[in-house]
Amino acid sequence: MFPSLALAVLASALSASAQVTSPYPGGQTVDSCESLKGSCNATTIDVNNVWNYPACALFAICSTWNYNVIDSLASIGAPHTQPVVPESTFKNITNGADVLTQQGYVDAYHYELSITPGAKNASGDADLVGQYQWLAAWTGFCGQDGIPYQNFADFFQYDGTPGVCPSTQSCNATIAASAQQCVPQPITDNGSCAEVVSECENFIQNGLFQSTYCVLASMCYAESTTDVLINDIYPSYIQGSSRPTTANETRLSIDVFHNFTGGADTMGLQNAIDAYYGALTNVWEPEGPFGAGAGVQTGQNGPYPTSTDYIENFWSIIAAWTGNCDTLEIPYDNLADYLSYAVYSGYHPKC
Ligand SMILES: *[C@@H]1O[C@H](CO)[C@@H](O)[C@H](O)[C@H]1NC(C)=O
Ligand SMILES: *[C@@H]1O[C@H](CO)[C@@H](O)[C@H](O)[C@H]1NC(C)=O
Ligand SMILES: *[C@@H]1O[C@H](CO)[C@@H](O)[C@H](O)[C@H]1NC(C)=O
Ligand SMILES: *[C@@H]1O[C@H](CO)[C@@H](O)[C@H](O)[C@H]1NC(C)=O
Ligand SMILES: *[C@@H]1O[C@H](CO)[C@@H](O)[C@H](O)[C@H]1NC(C)=O
Ligand SMILES: *[C@@H]1O[C@H](CO)[C@@H](O)[C@H](O)[C@H]1NC(C)=O
Ligand SMILES: *[C@@H]1O[C@H](CO)[C@@H](O)[C@H](O)[C@H]1NC(C)=O
Repeated sequence: MFPSLALAVLASALSASAQVTSPYPGGQTVDSCESLKGSCNATTIDVNNVWNYPACALFAICSTWNYNVIDSLASIGAPHTQPVVPESTFKNITNGADVLTQQGYVDAYHYELSITPGAKNASGDADLVGQYQWLAAWTGFCGQDGIPYQNFADFFQYDGTPGVCPSTQSCNATIAASAQQCVPQPITDNGSCAEVVSECENFIQNGLFQSTYCVLASMCYAESTTDVLINDIYPSYIQGSSRPTTANETRLSIDVFHNFTGGADTMGLQNAIDAYYGALTNVWEPEGPFGAGAGVQTGQNGPYPTSTDYIENFWSIIAAWTGNCDTLEIPYDNLADYLSYAVYSGYHPKC
């Protein structure tokens, strides 16, 4: 279900907007990065094996101020699916070492420019260090040890893939703490959770756990947290104590629960599937200012998940937390506890 990452933190953003914090180099560094891009000219390289060329791999890294890897491939007219970065390219960049260190990256960058005809030099090493730190954050190697081959390769394979999150948003803890959090999603999500979240915007003024849409949004954020969900829904102008956290939210409405179960005392996987698909049928679109609750049903459907595995994934996370892995049937009190407390529990079991 997930791509098999050698990363501590797995998969997906709701959208490609959840980029890690980029180093934003300016001036000559951008020019030198353009020089590397020139080396990846589609007329002179094999566009189906872009990562065979160290210059192209370095271009994908230095251009992260502007592009994710998928976009950088598009910018040189190469297909977005490429074979895994060969170890030979990695070893070329590290000059034979087993890990890519910050100094190794800086050296490789200068070396590649030196063998690129007509290349512009980088202005200085500070921006290159920023680029390396960005890669280190993505792969989860912020320390001084350097980035191993497998993690380096993961970056090229998954950066920009919806649902794949970096290990951390920045090696700078201050920046990481204030960055918009990436929301991991299995690939089967297909944008469905973002749609349910958007529908929830019509109803959140009544409380996160008082509407079927917002409760379903809370469920499909199971790989993330309900606090991240609230932050994603609330507009930036509502700050401080005006912005609720999960702790402010009234316990799950019994009516919403019975809506899901058709009146039964427990909610099962099939109830969750029916409710989730139901919420994606004749979807609501927010209208008017935030909190106005003036949405309209559009008559549009979807996007649905590409498989009910998607619902099974988040439902089994909830079942595990509530101790119901055997039946996947969850009583009201357990589900209400999960919604209110999972975010603060530090407990993330899987079935
Ligand atoms: C690629 O190389 C061809 C032939 O040398 C040249 O005409 C073209 O301008 C180059 N494209 C880029 C983007 O550098
Ligand atoms: C790395 O590849 C470049 C060509 O891009 C080549 O000139 C250089 O010799 C290689 N270096 C190593 C250490 O393999
Ligand atoms: C490019 O920059 C590097 C490091 O700043 C420096 O060592 C090198 O001499 C410069 N090359 C040119 C051609 O200016
Ligand atoms: C981390 O980022 C903050 C905010 O941009 C900055 O003030 C601070 O100097 C940075 N810390 C380090 C160690 O670079
Ligand atoms: C959330 O709860 C805190 C602590 O009780 C309170 O200070 C804050 O005003 C509440 N915020 C909202 C939006 O209800
Ligand atoms: C359940 O909620 C949906 C969406 O709000 C609504 O259309 C439906 O009528 C409700 N069903 C019951 C049995 O309350
Ligand atoms: C997945 O999303 C795409 C794009 O939104 C949509 O066209 C497609 O129908 C969705 N798949 C399913 C099974 O709904």
